[in-house]
Amino acid sequence: MGKVKIAPSMMCADFINLKKDLDVFKETKVDYLHIDVMDGHYVPNITLGADFCRALDEYSDIPLDIHLMIENVDKYVPDFAQFKNAIVCFHPEVSYHPIRTIQLIKSFGAAAGIGIDPGMSLDTIKDLLPYVNIVCIMTVSPGYAGQKVIPEAMDKIKIISDYIKANKLNVEIEVDGNVSWEHIPKMVENGAEILVSGSSSLYDKKAELKDNIIKMQSMLD
Ligand code: DX5
Ligand code: ZN
Repeated sequence: MGKVKIAPSMMCADFINLKKDLDVFKETKVDYLHIDVMDGHYVPNITLGADFCRALDEYSDIPLDIHLMIENVDKYVPDFAQFKNAIVCFHPEVSYHPIRTIQLIKSFGAAAGIGIDPGMSLDTIKDLLPYVNIVCIMTVSPGYAGQKVIPEAMDKIKIISDYIKANKLNVEIEVDGNVSWEHIPKMVENGAEILVSGSSSLYDKKAELKDNIIKMQSMLD
């Protein structure tokens, strides 16, 4: 396994001082910017959109890790898959033909991912794994930052990781939701390769953003 990657959750960023946060991400060389796109239909909350992605993409070279928590996903894929080196992740239950949606994302040159709700089992996504680059295992119900982990989802990281290894699939495992200082060691032990880091870690108000990143990088060394 390669080095575990860090993807700060941009919905937790300081929007008034976004440039300051982005400069810290550039300086500390984080791996991705995780952008939660919520439409108020698939999830109750409404968050970031394509214009926000464009602003980040123009300001930095850090690849965008775009997490679509939206319905009508095929309609919106072109707006998001156009960004250079982007990952576009969607929740397969919103698509009638998820393999077609994956192919659509890849047709723009983006990497394709599927988001796994804590209530979805490995069986429901097995047939999609050979087609995707990333699987985003959610350890909270999608919709909000600052929630508590769903314990069974921790075990699912290992179940999916074992399945990927046993079947020699080329899929990276991302974990999203309450990726806290306390949970990181177990998540990584279970197979997490990309950590979505929000209010439970990098945006933990007890310390400065830069110090939190350095702390996380040293934990993962
Ligand atoms: C939802 C989000 C949240 C959040 C992650 O998809 O990605 O999971 O920002 O950070 P926490 O859970 O630590 O607030
Ligand atoms: Zn997310």
